[in-house]
Amino acid sequence: MAKILVNNSGPLHGEVWISGAKNSVLPLLAATIMTSDTCVIEDVPDLADVSVMKKMLMKYGAKIDDAEEGTIRISTPEIISCEGDRDLVQEMRASLFTMGPMLARHGKIVMPMPGGCTIGRRPIDLHLKGFRALGAEVVEDDENEVVTVTAGPEGLRGDVIYLDFPSVGATENILMAATLARGTTIIENAAKEPEIIDLANQLNKMGARIKYAGTDMIRIEGVGKLSGCIHEAIPDRIETGTFMLAAAITRGDILIRNALPGHVRPIMAKLKECNVDVEVTPEGIYVDARDRELNSTDIKTLPYPGFPTDIQSPFMAFLTTVDGSSVVRETVFENRFMHVVELNRMGADILIENREALVPGGKKLKGAKVRATDLRAGAAMVLAGLSASGTTEISEIYHIERGYENFVGKFKALGADIMKISND
Ligand code: EPZ
Repeated sequence: MAKILVNNSGPLHGEVWISGAKNSVLPLLAATIMTSDTCVIEDVPDLADVSVMKKMLMKYGAKIDDAEEGTIRISTPEIISCEGDRDLVQEMRASLFTMGPMLARHGKIVMPMPGGCTIGRRPIDLHLKGFRALGAEVVEDDENEVVTVTAGPEGLRGDVIYLDFPSVGATENILMAATLARGTTIIENAAKEPEIIDLANQLNKMGARIKYAGTDMIRIEGVGKLSGCIHEAIPDRIETGTFMLAAAITRGDILIRNALPGHVRPIMAKLKECNVDVEVTPEGIYVDARDRELNSTDIKTLPYPGFPTDIQSPFMAFLTTVDGSSVVRETVFENRFMHVVELNRMGADILIENREALVPGGKKLKGAKVRATDLRAGAAMVLAGLSASGTTEISEIYHIERGYENFVGKFKALGADIMKISND
């Protein structure tokens, strides 16, 4: 199994270019199967999850041309299968985001259920609640762990749908399905993440009639058909936050190019609370932690625009190194502290009480053999390794490669002593 070796790297310095957002590109690609026209998606990062999504869509009948780096040309002349691939769904939960588009285009989807994962049970009850509200029949076969969703005889029809939790995936699935439903759909308590707005922008370019995306009440007027489009994905706000923290944890300074400050305000605010200098400049976000007395702060993850759960573990790694104790509260997922065990192998001495992690801070971490327990926890372990004494060996790095493009290369360019090794 491949591993990443990280040695203590001293202050990182330089600039990094942020790739297109994984959590935008995945629904953007899924949405393209709602038309037989060609869609061109630009600024697509080279990620394992993108490869899985392409395989999923090709199984439905999509034709994909990805010859040009960073650009995917995709058209789905006809749907040749309405069955999701179980292995692909297990590999990537976001395969579920093809349910809404398939329901809208084809009127039926047979989807194997994804297991939970290390960060939680991750049910899809809100997705199914939305499909039922749009008039679809939902049959859950628990024995075979398959859900079959079938549109009514006249297709989908609009309705008002209240989401008990502002689920990102449920909002995206319902939003896509509703674009081709008859009449008006209102999604109440909708997720407000920037990726929702990016998806709505692409859908409107395709001929959809969506208003108020980015607020907690999205209005969709159904249309008869959708056409092709050219759309560039937004930059990845979670990758942006990860490299902001790389500057902070190594006490270095990094200019983060192609980042949207408006998408990372909670991260900028929290780093400033720790006395890290964060400046928005015309060239990008400049983060400077050199020669500064840093202090601790408390973190509470919330749906956007609150502090992002995907930055919780990287930020916790940083908090272990500043003087003063911190409380990190995870409110979005029920089990997103798997990285605490790994950080404690490095001497972090973090305690967990219910959904709060008590980070004592003031630690000089020591290199150790650790695991990447999920995508973002893997990034957190790399950050910890940069700051720790000695060598940190990170296994199960396939998690990292799901969601960070050229992760090792970007860190090397900033002066990190890091390498990927393959034991094969
Ligand atoms: C998206 O996952 C992201 N993934 C996640 O990023 C991110 O952490 C999450 O949103 C929250 O921001 C993609 O966009 C591909 P949710 P999603 O539905 O849509 C519960 C990463 O590292 N819930 O907003 O699955 C659920 O159990 C990944 O890039 C229900 O109860 O997240 C969780 O506790 C990790 N019923 C909470 O809502 C449902 O039907 C948030 O889940 C759906 C969700």
